[in-house]
Amino acid sequence: MAETIIANPKAANTGAVSLPAGSIIVVLGASGDLAKKKTYPALFGLYRYGLMPKDIKIVGYARTKMSEEDYHKRISQYIKLPNETVETQLKEFIAMCTYVSGQYDQDEGFQSLTAHMKEIEGSKKECHRLFYMALPPNVFTTVAQHIKRNCYPESGSARIIIEKPFGHDLASSRELQASLQPIWTEDEIFRIDHYLGKEMVKNILILRFGNEFFGASWNKNHISSVQITFKEKFGTEGRGGYFDQFGIIRDVMQNHLLQVLTMIAMERPVSFSAEDIRDEKVRVLKAMPIIDPKNVVIGQYDKSPDGTKPAYTDDDTVPKGSRCPTFAAIVLHINNDRWDGVPFILKAGKALDSAKVEVRVQFKDVTSGIFKDIPRNELVIRIQPDESVYLKMNTKMPGLTTKTSVTELDLTYNRRFSDLKIPEAYEALILDAINGDHSNFVRDDELDASWKIFTPLLHYLDENTDIVPAPYPYGSRGPAFLDDFLASYGYAREGVGMYQWPVTHANGNL
Ligand code: BG6
Repeated sequence: MAETIIANPKAANTGAVSLPAGSIIVVLGASGDLAKKKTYPALFGLYRYGLMPKDIKIVGYARTKMSEEDYHKRISQYIKLPNETVETQLKEFIAMCTYVSGQYDQDEGFQSLTAHMKEIEGSKKECHRLFYMALPPNVFTTVAQHIKRNCYPESGSARIIIEKPFGHDLASSRELQASLQPIWTEDEIFRIDHYLGKEMVKNILILRFGNEFFGASWNKNHISSVQITFKEKFGTEGRGGYFDQFGIIRDVMQNHLLQVLTMIAMERPVSFSAEDIRDEKVRVLKAMPIIDPKNVVIGQYDKSPDGTKPAYTDDDTVPKGSRCPTFAAIVLHINNDRWDGVPFILKAGKALDSAKVEVRVQFKDVTSGIFKDIPRNELVIRIQPDESVYLKMNTKMPGLTTKTSVTELDLTYNRRFSDLKIPEAYEALILDAINGDHSNFVRDDELDASWKIFTPLLHYLDENTDIVPAPYPYGSRGPAFLDDFLASYGYAREGVGMYQWPVTHANGNL
């Protein structure tokens, strides 16, 4: 079992300032789902691998009144304990975690939180506090205001980590920004898009700019289309109430998939510093015109063919007759020299046939003449599961033949890096926030630019009640016309049925 995480000694060369020993991390919304499933396991992961500053303390804050014992049980619920060493580490970690309960809209609770933090900090002259807001969007602004008013250290520093949704369109996102900005500086805010913490997403810039042959062919002259696919096997089961207000486009496309697209399409940054990277990301977003509804298809899942899996609208938490899309395919364009005319296809859906997230860069056809029907090259970056990069290429079939065969250059992480642990996205991002490194967080102008691209489409879909998503069976590949839609943008679904990846040997092992 891979046990080592490789990490930079500290935020070197970035100009970022790390939280010093003895800082406090406050998890707001500590009794909620996000905190127990993601935040605390990530904090524990960082502690386990020795990546936390020394003597850090973690304080949970939420409305629920509970004993420290209950709090400890709750936050360790999702932490896996493969052996005794980890059990001992968990005990040490739990001893660092305390809890304060209070309301989100009253000063008293936040004042008790500050009193508790002061007790921990003792006679320290400078106090450093990181506030992680694992909170529903409706209390977001008010909590940020209360923290600033009641919990901001008199001397030292404070940072807040905030989670999506950052509004539901351009206007509401700007409103949210406007309510945060007078009280928190951009430097203090860390907007999480957890896809930016995923190992393979972080690898995109290295693959592109660290390999001359990719760099040389990474443009409209050689690339026919780029497809970014997000598939989940499960529907909204029980979470439909939340999902219905957003739909798949707001839930994963305007943020996670657009972030991946930006990394694929941006120009080479001057350096790996946060601002240089984010400047290039904003530049490419600004070159993207708003989405034309003609370039969009939407779907909603129906019952599975055998009737065992429910339709989206069978979920009790979903309003009857909802038109909310659970599937969408959207084609975007980038009006710059590098990408003019290349379709970037974002595809995302719930209740599909498989669970994966991948980028598929399809190259152009080789010049015809000597070959007949030779498939195109494809570079696939598989973000999850089973992180890997593989390049589909043509070779001669071995033997006394000139037949060609599709094969691949294959970098599958669990084979090549079998002794290294791939950090969880939240571990990577919380560590960045501790280190003060903004590179993998969303800047305000980046958020604004991304909403500008999507908002007209979202309003068009919201307002035109005659547009209904096409039904697709639970567990299928999506609406039936999907392949024709993709083909109309030049995407060739090559070798279906004959090409299999990863290769399975006769003994069934990879
Ligand atoms: C979240 C969405 O942001 O990302 C969920 O709200 C989605 O609907 C999730 O399931 C996917 O994240 P991951 O890391 O499981 O791919």
